Amino acid sequence: MDHETQVELLDEILGLRRERSAYLDETVTHSPVNRYLDEQRFSDERAQIFRKQPLLIAHSSELVEDGGFLSRDICGAPILLTRDRSGEAHAFFNVCRHRGARLVEAEEGCKHRFSCPYHAWTWDNTGRLIAIPHKDQGFPDLDKGDYGLKRIALKESQGWLWVRLDGDGNDDEALSNHIAELADDLNWLQMGDLTVHAVHERVWNCNWKIVVEGGLESYHFRVAHAKTIGALFHDNLSTYRAFGPHIRSILARTSVDDLVEIPRKQWRIRDHANVLYTLFPNSAWLVQSDHVVLIQFAPETVSQTRIRCVTLRPKQNEALTENQQSYWDKNHALTVKTLAEDFELGEKIQAGLDLGVNDVLTFGRYEGALDLFNRTVDEHLRASGPA
Ligand code: FES
Ligand SMILES: [Fe+2]
Repeated sequence: MDHETQVELLDEILGLRRERSAYLDETVTHSPVNRYLDEQRFSDERAQIFRKQPLLIAHSSELVEDGGFLSRDICGAPILLTRDRSGEAHAFFNVCRHRGARLVEAEEGCKHRFSCPYHAWTWDNTGRLIAIPHKDQGFPDLDKGDYGLKRIALKESQGWLWVRLDGDGNDDEALSNHIAELADDLNWLQMGDLTVHAVHERVWNCNWKIVVEGGLESYHFRVAHAKTIGALFHDNLSTYRAFGPHIRSILARTSVDDLVEIPRKQWRIRDHANVLYTLFPNSAWLVQSDHVVLIQFAPETVSQTRIRCVTLRPKQNEALTENQQSYWDKNHALTVKTLAEDFELGEKIQAGLDLGVNDVLTFGRYEGALDLFNRTVDEHLRASGPA
């Protein structure tokens, strides 16, 4: 984001402050509760969005140099990410090419070859089949070249790894287009210079869209986050813009009021607002003044979502001092605690959805980003046609 845009966005917030107004959309909208309850719809979302759309899968620093691997499940699809000696990242289905066993059980580690736990067929970390026990007798004519691990489209760019399950190989136009929308902001954020500090992961009992929606308004901050971060933010003061299917929200901190005393050329948006990127379909970057939190919402069932919160701090060559360690630990703990407030509310919402109390959820004019997100989901379902 160039400096001019940062000033423009901060000016917009200060304008709203002067008018004592929230950022308003045209109309109140409604979201049918079936969106969060219907099994058929959930399976359509899996098939038509999660398998077809680019998905942010990890930060580059999670896949360590020379032999790092990660295994992840996305919507029931087991994925294996590897990094080879040359530093190149690869993505495969974590499925053995012999009789289909899960090839790698560990969630992460460092390995140059992967041996199947069933009959020990073995692949290197570029996906090449390198060994079959008793091959000559059992599989005399088998060409190992035909049995490489099944590759998934992958793009590594500016510190992030993206995959597309239905994409084949590495040269995937859909992946590049998906990221193109974010190019300016990615250049600004330089998130390749970050490293993972800490991770928190657990399954929450609510539909994935309920928890994504929870990040798209600041109407709840003063109420739901009264015990954590509420006082740091102005009440219901945020704006948003769409970038293709993604949404960038500016969540104003109370310190925006100090800007009237500071020359515009010194304004830096990260010091006075959290910048939240809601990345379609199921991830978010929460950009704060000195670090970024990655949040991934992986749907497991229509009413269960595995949520991973990753605190990313600046890389440094030397080890963290005790003070630095404690600073980042506290930061991570506050993020986890604050987000738990959102996710607990998400669970309560889900639990009440099928009681017939609400046929629709009602989004006010300052909750317009929630409607935009749902329209984007609906458009992708429609564009793909019936399952
Ligand atoms: S299923 Fe993997 S080696 Fe047989
Ligand atoms: Fe929240």
